[in-house]
Amino acid sequence: MTDTNTATAASVPLAPRALPLLGHALPLLRDPLAFIMSLSEYREMVRVRLGPTTAMLICHPDLTRQVFLNDRVFDKGGPIYDRIREVIGDGLSTCPYPLHRRQRRLCQPSFHPTRLPGYGAVFARAAELKADSWRDGDVLDITQEMMTLTTRATMETMFSGSLPAETMRRALADTATIVSAFFRRMMTPALLRRVPTPQKRRYDHARNRLAATIAEIIAERRADPTDHADLLSTLVAAVDEESEDGQKQLSDTELADEALTFFLGGMETTAITLAWALHLLATNPDVQHRLRAETHQVLAGGKVDAAHLPSLDLAARVVTETLRLYPPAWMMTRAVRQDTELGGVRLKGGSTIVLSPYLLHRRPDLYPDPDRFDPDRWLGAQPDRATYIPFGAGARKCIGDQFALTEAVLALTAIVARWELTPVGDQPFKPKVETSLSSRGLRLRLSERRPSGTDDAELHTATPRSTPSQPSTPPGAGACPVKH
Ligand code: HEM
Repeated sequence: MTDTNTATAASVPLAPRALPLLGHALPLLRDPLAFIMSLSEYREMVRVRLGPTTAMLICHPDLTRQVFLNDRVFDKGGPIYDRIREVIGDGLSTCPYPLHRRQRRLCQPSFHPTRLPGYGAVFARAAELKADSWRDGDVLDITQEMMTLTTRATMETMFSGSLPAETMRRALADTATIVSAFFRRMMTPALLRRVPTPQKRRYDHARNRLAATIAEIIAERRADPTDHADLLSTLVAAVDEESEDGQKQLSDTELADEALTFFLGGMETTAITLAWALHLLATNPDVQHRLRAETHQVLAGGKVDAAHLPSLDLAARVVTETLRLYPPAWMMTRAVRQDTELGGVRLKGGSTIVLSPYLLHRRPDLYPDPDRFDPDRWLGAQPDRATYIPFGAGARKCIGDQFALTEAVLALTAIVARWELTPVGDQPFKPKVETSLSSRGLRLRLSERRPSGTDDAELHTATPRSTPSQPSTPPGAGACPVKH
């Protein structure tokens, strides 16, 4: 709806330092996070020029929420999704509004809360195996380590543990190749993307082979429809009773697209969340010490499992705070499908919107001392749905949020229970800004810590003494302090 009282988009201020032709490409390429943060003073919205496209960057939480909630008008699209679509087709995360609801109904049962304990058991086992593979004094590329952990866990939750070791190895290698090529391909102009460089050949080979691996697994599963209690079984069995075109189940092609979407979409985001969490713990030894005390108290010398989740209160708050400071999806784009109005401004159909969780999460008026890692800011407090948006919101909100939070809390617990993490070198580590806020290149040093070293003083430091009046997350609230 528009009316004569609304302002035109051209009356919205243009961010400073735009150059002819290049627009804001230089500050966006040089230091995108500093550039985005410099725009937070605009409070509502500001125009940004991404090459030939002028996009409206939304700086206000209420306007951001309006965009998320009206996904018919503010549809998936814009520079980020247009590129991702080229790689993973019209899966759940990339498909336009008219295809979305049916796909969401068919995928939702795979993420039903009753499935989580089963997935949790797989995550816990994978994390314990990873923690067992390290040696005292190791200096690790922690992002790489977390990638292999989440790839294995995702493979097993999706396709159950019954995959032959060789299939698993192949899928791990292909996923690593695809993920490392992903951002470069998104930044490369269309014509150059077709040039058959060795990198492109490796990428095509990995993508084709991973698609073939997934197709092979789906064919086997069709032939043996017993419930394997994994994500694929639920997808294969899903029926959409509301289907209007008679297609009540996912076709083989749709199944493969969804499997690839979950696999690629879920694995890297969770891996970098874990890597950032470990980095923040390494640079905040007091919090790490308290978290270790919590793990020793809850695990009591045993191994982590999904049943521990309701007691892992500090671990959950560490994950929540990590996602505030380093939301992997730091920026998202939307395509405006028809003329509309937002915050009193007329927007034309075809225009582009940019949303940024990073910007909202670091606004000092929303989060006091916003750059400080402080898991205790979540003590007894639920994150606000408008200002805390690491998983987006509305109908396109992340379908794997609880899956990821469960995996992250269990993995963090298994690692910290056994290993002390310290930074390597004394230079602050800066994110590599890609499609996600990557922790690529982050290295940490490990020293072994045994639960037997736990003393009573340590056991009592899991909850800070300085805030006795604040209730902690209630028992039974689960590991996820984010309620949706
Ligand atoms: C810490 C980990 C994760 C983060 C931070 C994250 C973040 C997000 C965000 C911000 C969105 C919304 C994007 C938008 O509105 O433009 C999203 C959507 C989505 N995510 Fe995640 N995600 C994570 C883990 C996962 C996992 C583990 C899976 C699957 C196994 C997954 C699958 C999806 C899918 C399929 C969508 C599209 C949902 C729809 O459009 O209906 N994500 N994610």
